[in-house]
Amino acid sequence: MTRLRVGVVGTGFIAGRHLGALAGFDDVAVVAVADAVPARAEEAAARSGARPYPDGTALLETEELDAVWLCVPPFAHGPLEAAAVARGLPFFVEKPLGPDLATAEAIGAEVAAAGLTTAVGYHWRHLGLVHRAQELLRDRPVQLVTGAWLDRTPGAPWWSRRAASGGQVVEQTTHLFDLARLLAGEVDTVAAVERAAPEGDVPAASTTLLTFASGAVGSISSARVLGRRHSVGLQLVTEGLAVEVTERGLSDHQLRVSGAEGEETTGSAEDPIAAEDREFLDVLLGAAPGVRVPYAEGLRSHALACAADRAGREGGPVRLRD
Ligand SMILES: NC(=O)c1ccc[n+]([C@@H]2O[C@H](COP(=O)([O-])OP(=O)(O)OC[C@H]3O[C@@H](n4cnc5c(N)ncnc54)[C@H](O)[C@@H]3O)[C@@H](O)[C@H]2O)c1
Repeated sequence: MTRLRVGVVGTGFIAGRHLGALAGFDDVAVVAVADAVPARAEEAAARSGARPYPDGTALLETEELDAVWLCVPPFAHGPLEAAAVARGLPFFVEKPLGPDLATAEAIGAEVAAAGLTTAVGYHWRHLGLVHRAQELLRDRPVQLVTGAWLDRTPGAPWWSRRAASGGQVVEQTTHLFDLARLLAGEVDTVAAVERAAPEGDVPAASTTLLTFASGAVGSISSARVLGRRHSVGLQLVTEGLAVEVTERGLSDHQLRVSGAEGEETTGSAEDPIAAEDREFLDVLLGAAPGVRVPYAEGLRSHALACAADRAGREGGPVRLRD
């Protein structure tokens, strides 16, 4: 059996989920891991039977790999993708694609020129519940989209610095912007307001108004001042039907559908992280035709989240470019 040789750069929280998923597949071997904190790389290496590196670029320049998973914080994007592109190495990259749009656009241009196989961790797209929502909305034009990410402030030290994380809209609520694009189509313009927080420069709360190319309208809000996650989800209203997708945890999702005849709620314990990893591996092995979210597609959702963030910072509407 072919065993793909892969590396993982960044060995924090989400890398742990990917390493767990990859360990469950017998056609892939994690041969190298890197983290800017050497002890973290060594610990992950010991658990995976991999070689540890204190530097992701060194890993990419040294190891003979079939693919790499980039699980670093937003501020660390750029050099790692450039090193992967230089080696013609397919990569899976966690969202967001960077703390800003310029970094991701530059990488996107390099990826396109190299024709590299890539995948972005917009994991909601790998949920059966979301595929069911897509089916329900296929022939019903969406009229209204409402969404909210109401949560606590994550503990990672980089998160509360807007220049490092991109802020809540870019780092977290990006999943809802991505889902809105998937289920209601492209967005033409956004406008936003935000409320400053007493500590740090990531807003305490913000709200974005969206106008979709279809004519649908919407709003997506974010807040980070709670003691724990309250609710994370998106609702879509069409003629006679409301569809809601919510996330309580990475493997805890819900679809609620309300029509004239009544309401139906379906829960799911699917692991979308394992599903997106499996899909990427299958594409590399020639067993699947393509990934759901290649870099160019992830870049469109990132651009939308960045436009919402910019509208909040600068005031005034922002028009999305083609
Ligand atoms: N898909 C999801 O739902 C989901 C969930 C959680 C996190 N994420 C994303 O994953 C990324 C990482 O988040 P996390 O929660 O794992 O953060 P984390 O802080 O737990 O882990 C990040 C790790 O990267 C390391 N690192 C930083 N710069 C590096 C560099 N240049 N080279 C190598 N290692 C470096 C840090 O030392 C840290 O160990 C973020 O972009 C986040 O948005 C996605």
